[in-house]
Amino acid sequence: MNRLKKGSRCTICKSKGEKNKAIVYLPHHRLALCKEHFISWFEKRVEKTIKEFKMFSKNDRILVAVSGGKDSLALWNALVRLGYEADGFYINLGIGQYSEDSKQLALNFAKRIGRPLHILDLSSEISTIPQIKESTNRPACSACGMVKRYYMNKFAKENGYNIIATGHNLDDEVAVLFGNTLKWDIDYLKRQYPVLKEENGFIRKVKPLCKITEKESALYSFFNGIEYIEYECPFSEGASSIEYKEYIAKLEEKHPGTKLQFYTNFLKRMYPILQTNEKLKEELNKCKICGEPSYNEICSVCSLKEKLKTARV
Ligand code: AMP
Ligand code: FES
Ligand code: ZN
Ligand code: ZN
Repeated sequence: MNRLKKGSRCTICKSKGEKNKAIVYLPHHRLALCKEHFISWFEKRVEKTIKEFKMFSKNDRILVAVSGGKDSLALWNALVRLGYEADGFYINLGIGQYSEDSKQLALNFAKRIGRPLHILDLSSEISTIPQIKESTNRPACSACGMVKRYYMNKFAKENGYNIIATGHNLDDEVAVLFGNTLKWDIDYLKRQYPVLKEENGFIRKVKPLCKITEKESALYSFFNGIEYIEYECPFSEGASSIEYKEYIAKLEEKHPGTKLQFYTNFLKRMYPILQTNEKLKEELNKCKICGEPSYNEICSVCSLKEKLKTARV
């Protein structure tokens, strides 16, 4: 059974002798749940993931990278409810209405939970994503990912946060893992872990929703009345990860649990093997211009800045 049967009762309520109706069915966990028990199941699962991968504790200062989407807002909500010290960080990418709407939703949510939301305007740091795309002829998403990673790390360090948490969910992780496996891209595979430890000028980065599906985080947001941006970034059209997600969804529909198994078995069985190859370790330097960690003399963001300067003259 993949869907909720009419008249199903909540599994947890049933075990307590109560008879509440289930409104969610999680086929890969064989759980039918009422609203209240779905919310507590979600938060317990996030807490368990945080502990399993030793992501952080109540003594850490966490910066949640918030996009205005369902995953990062659900994550922020869950972390605060679980008692963690978590503030938000929104990067205004300058992507027209999409950025305006997502910023507003992030601000509304911050107000609702009474936590600070830091906002960084990309236009005053480097350039907006559409301008970068135009001047460099580079796909918007790859430049965007690189720039976001750089400013998340720099901002967290400069403002006393020791953890960066992102809203990547199981579907995101599985799509990336699938793509990297198709190419046997060892460099990426060896770094695909829900915790990237702090080293060489990088802050610890964690993905506490790595075992939560996209549907689960959408439901959690909905049940908690969280308003989030419901449309995709205009540059995401045609991204290969979206295509992979569609194939994987078909597999999951036929064989519930495939996604979770593919991901967790990679972490358990393949990831440790990839770590033992010493030759795979690369040397990190400090960027000569900004001092941030970089594999080359000048980091990718500083070289992008240089390119943008030449494009402007
Ligand atoms: P994406 O790469 O758009 O799938 O987003 C993955 C994660 O990166 C989100 O769940 C957020 O945690 C973070 N993120 C994406 N966009 C932003 C943004 N504009 N500002 C801050 N964090 C972001
Ligand atoms: Fe970065 Fe779409 S969010 S290009
Ligand atoms: Zn229940
Ligand atoms: Zn630099």
